[in-house]
Amino acid sequence: MALMLKGARVIDPQVGLDEVTDILIRDGKIVEIGTNLTMEKGVERDLSGKIIVPGLVDIHVHLREPGFEQKEDIASGTRAAAHGGFTAICPMPNTDPVIDDALGIEFIKAVGEAKGKARIIPCGACSQGLKGETLSEMGNMVAHGAKAFSDDGKGIQDAGMMRRVMDYAVQFDVPVMVHCQDDALVGEGQVNEGVASTRLGLLGWPAEGEEIEIARDIALCRLTGCPLHIQHITTARGLAMVREAKAEGLPVTCEVTPHHLFLTEDAIGPEYQTALKVNPPLRTKEDAQALIQGVIDGTVDCIVTDHAPHTDWEKDREFELAPFGMTGLETSLSLVLTHLVSEGIIDYNRMIELMAVTPRAIVREEAVSLQPGSTADLTVIDPEAEWTVEVGEFYSKANNSGFIGQTLKGRATDVYVGGYATMEDGAIVE
Ligand code: DOR
Ligand code: ZN
Repeated sequence: MALMLKGARVIDPQVGLDEVTDILIRDGKIVEIGTNLTMEKGVERDLSGKIIVPGLVDIHVHLREPGFEQKEDIASGTRAAAHGGFTAICPMPNTDPVIDDALGIEFIKAVGEAKGKARIIPCGACSQGLKGETLSEMGNMVAHGAKAFSDDGKGIQDAGMMRRVMDYAVQFDVPVMVHCQDDALVGEGQVNEGVASTRLGLLGWPAEGEEIEIARDIALCRLTGCPLHIQHITTARGLAMVREAKAEGLPVTCEVTPHHLFLTEDAIGPEYQTALKVNPPLRTKEDAQALIQGVIDGTVDCIVTDHAPHTDWEKDREFELAPFGMTGLETSLSLVLTHLVSEGIIDYNRMIELMAVTPRAIVREEAVSLQPGSTADLTVIDPEAEWTVEVGEFYSKANNSGFIGQTLKGRATDVYVGGYATMEDGAIVE
């Protein structure tokens, strides 16, 4: 079937394109881009006033299936992804059972194909059961489609074990994505150690608990040559280490989340809002500013959500008892458009690099670009749409956003995966 997208501003820095034009799609691929295109028969959509970009990709989400479907499942999580403008997502393996063998990889692929509204980029655990002790079946998982490895949710405590993970992964040119957390330093830390932990009377989660593992893993990257991706980086010093590693030529990349860019420890008030309890914790204003600088100068490679859905009853507890994490898939793009693009801090080209181009490159997914021959994974944005983040408006099962009540400008209205609409005019296509 042919599909014609007419009259949008089409932007793709990969091919130096930024103009109002038409896109013709057939059999899941872009066949032509140009003005005043015609076709014999097919579906035509007038997208004037909208912006079309290569489909957005989020390489750090939690879909909770199998095992925690009360929080989210692959059906609801991929709908949340499409609603937020994403065409592909990489779910972390901290499920129950943990995705640490070929069967687990096949399971998420199969459920994703049967019920999903976004492509699934499979990620396997580094260690069996996320215990940090024994290697998972990495080679077998790669044979079944794993594109990355991560023990996310936990840091791998033993440097020798981390070395083995990287020695093994490098053979397949598969990136190891690391959640940097030294348990001996972090312990039961709840919020950033310093002003916030003192003010709130909660145990501190020190910046050094993250930075020590970043330093160690960069050293192990140098030793093994394995592609290393630092997940949800939060501190100015951590980012400085990544900047240096890149200057040295090491295969190191890193990601930030909207919540670490746009919220700080100061946001946690006397209400002890559990939606703001995340791991790693919200840091200082200076840290957030350093992260934004990294987004501008290229030290930060991509923006991810760490979409971490939890039930209302799990979050409606004392701060110390509530689980870490906030949702993100349905607010990420709008937050970036509102706080970075509209403010002129970055332009659309940089946003596309951060949210579409580089995430694909990190997990070695085929590039999607706006030119004939490319897969038609596309995100359509209404740059003028104003909306307020509200409970009850999410496709996710969960409501634990840290941005409830914020009014944002710009959002995805339509999403195409392989030429098929997963979202049209703001509603998921069933
Ligand atoms: O806040 C977080 N929540 N950080 C993580 O690393 C894990 C995640 C989760 O699984 O809930
Ligand atoms: Zn994590």
